[in-house]
Amino acid sequence: MDLGLKSVSVSFGNVVALDDVCLELPAGSQAVLWGPAGGGKTTLLKVLAGLVLPTRGDVRWGDAHVTSLSEEARREAQAAFGFVFQTDALFDSMSVLDNVRLPLKKRGVADAEATRRAHEVLEQVGLLAAAGKRPEDLSGGMKKRAGIARAIVARPQVLLADDPFAGLDPVTEGQIARLLLQVSEGRTLIAALPDPLASLPLPRQLRIVAGRIEAPSR
Ligand SMILES: Nc1ncnc2c1ncn2[C@@H]1O[C@H](COP(=O)(O)OP(=O)(O)O)[C@@H](O)[C@H]1O
Ligand SMILES: [Mg+2]
Repeated sequence: MDLGLKSVSVSFGNVVALDDVCLELPAGSQAVLWGPAGGGKTTLLKVLAGLVLPTRGDVRWGDAHVTSLSEEARREAQAAFGFVFQTDALFDSMSVLDNVRLPLKKRGVADAEATRRAHEVLEQVGLLAAAGKRPEDLSGGMKKRAGIARAIVARPQVLLADDPFAGLDPVTEGQIARLLLQVSEGRTLIAALPDPLASLPLPRQLRIVAGRIEAPSR
């Protein structure tokens, strides 16, 4: 699915988080979105996924204009997005397996099928043995793996990762970077990072400062 932002601005009260951003992301684009804290990275990812609506401008998912969709249609179309959150955002009261099954259950996938697919992605991220554990019993790297499994279990076309290496040691960072590259094959991947780290060498680098994308996209 092609994604497009046209003159998108987002304000939170007096704060301008995104300022007239234009961006074309053809299907399969892979980009690092980098820049200082407060620059607008998280807001941009959320706008791409329809989690935040633009104050001004147009967000396009394929042929659909996000602001013209009903809330229900928007929620349905959001199945195309997998979001790896900055904080792991796993529910500690549930097992890893149940956390990963959750997006499928929300979409009405039958229990047996949801379990099968959750096991499949847990195996893919190397976490099958921890399926029955609680997130609080996992290491930082394993939590990231669980978050990635949950993001891809509904087979999204677009994977958005917000600061996926936060709090990881360099070795774990390298492992998570390789995993992200592996699971995003054939998908669009946008990773927000504080700097354009060599551990995630994506073809396109977008620098965002004060709500504006600065570098000409390559
Ligand atoms: N929900 C919100 N309410 C108020 N201000 C927000 C909200 N989300 C983001 N901001 C502000 O928008 C700006 C951009 O934030 P953000 O997108 O989180 O940047 P980054 O991810 O690059 O650190 C910051 O000034 C931040 O404080
Ligand atoms: Mg952020």
